[in-house]
Amino acid sequence: MNATTTLEIHSAEDANRKAIHSDMISPRFYTTDFDAMNRLSVEPVRAEWDKMMAEYQGDNNHDHFQRDEAFAAEVSEGMAGLSPEMRQEFLDFLVSSLTSEFSGCVLYNEIRKNVSNPDIKQLMTYLARDESRHASFINMSLRDFDLGIDLGNLKRSKKVTFFKPKYIYYATYLSEKIGYARYITIFRQLERHPEKRFHPIFRWFERWCNDEFRHGESFALIMRANPHLLRGVNTLWIRFFLLAVYATMYVRDHARPMLHEAMGLESSDYDYEVFRITTAITRQVFPLALDTDNPRFRRGLERLFAISQAMEKAKARGGVIGRLQQGLCAVQALGTFAGLYFLPVIRQDISPQVRMEPAW
Ligand SMILES: [Fe+2]
Ligand SMILES: [Fe+2]
Repeated sequence: MNATTTLEIHSAEDANRKAIHSDMISPRFYTTDFDAMNRLSVEPVRAEWDKMMAEYQGDNNHDHFQRDEAFAAEVSEGMAGLSPEMRQEFLDFLVSSLTSEFSGCVLYNEIRKNVSNPDIKQLMTYLARDESRHASFINMSLRDFDLGIDLGNLKRSKKVTFFKPKYIYYATYLSEKIGYARYITIFRQLERHPEKRFHPIFRWFERWCNDEFRHGESFALIMRANPHLLRGVNTLWIRFFLLAVYATMYVRDHARPMLHEAMGLESSDYDYEVFRITTAITRQVFPLALDTDNPRFRRGLERLFAISQAMEKAKARGGVIGRLQQGLCAVQALGTFAGLYFLPVIRQDISPQVRMEPAW
């Protein structure tokens, strides 16, 4: 049993329930301290900031999120060949991707509505615009299977977590950059093996991930304009968020191995390639990186995945024993996470120039 089989998607109700559901690895919704964001200054990076705003305004993807003529035929042809299990993994991928995209949309919109800081307000308007396009585009694909997510209801029903602004910068920066790395790795793989592209949505990933890359650039500029966020005790937080984001992705991806296999990828190889790209990008802000090639790091992630599988089994079992087993799994997960946290990290010099190109 894995994370996908505990909540299978057979109806729109299932899909909506899955999107609303909260657990350790499912995408969450966030809110933050708007007054603190009002006090944020981007003056030290003004020239680069204004250049980036002009890029957002130019909106080079305004016509990208529309389907072309071949789309419908490619869906029926590609999906016909999928086994029921593989179909479940793909639907799970669509629902969790949509939830992440919409999570960004909700957060950026909340900030936009509640801040008076003109720089942040303007940025959030563009970010929310892009994420809303991304979420709607995925929702169209769910609707093809009558599994559309009611986004209004999702916004009203999903639990919201409060994060201090600095946690938002670390977590959002990383999820934007890792989102870029994930989409570009899939796009490049299917560019080399078009016969493995079982759904047309993957053809959209190249221009799509450039949006995510740029979103990440915005948070990189915010952090570089406020360098105390990247020093001292805050490096411990950076370390924490790096590990939390990497570990969550690893566990979530390994719960759907067939999806990667169908694309000719292996979940671990795919994840370590995504980590490699993300780590290279983070030199623009973070003075440290996780040593993802360390065999102890890799064993720790494998163990976290095994614990999450055991946790799913315990949940399915229920009752007193099931609850005890869940408690034990939680303790083991915490211990493993702590072990990973204290592994040696790689110190790195922050690149002199902040902005980077999406060159992967
Ligand atoms: Fe997005
Ligand atoms: Fe984004």
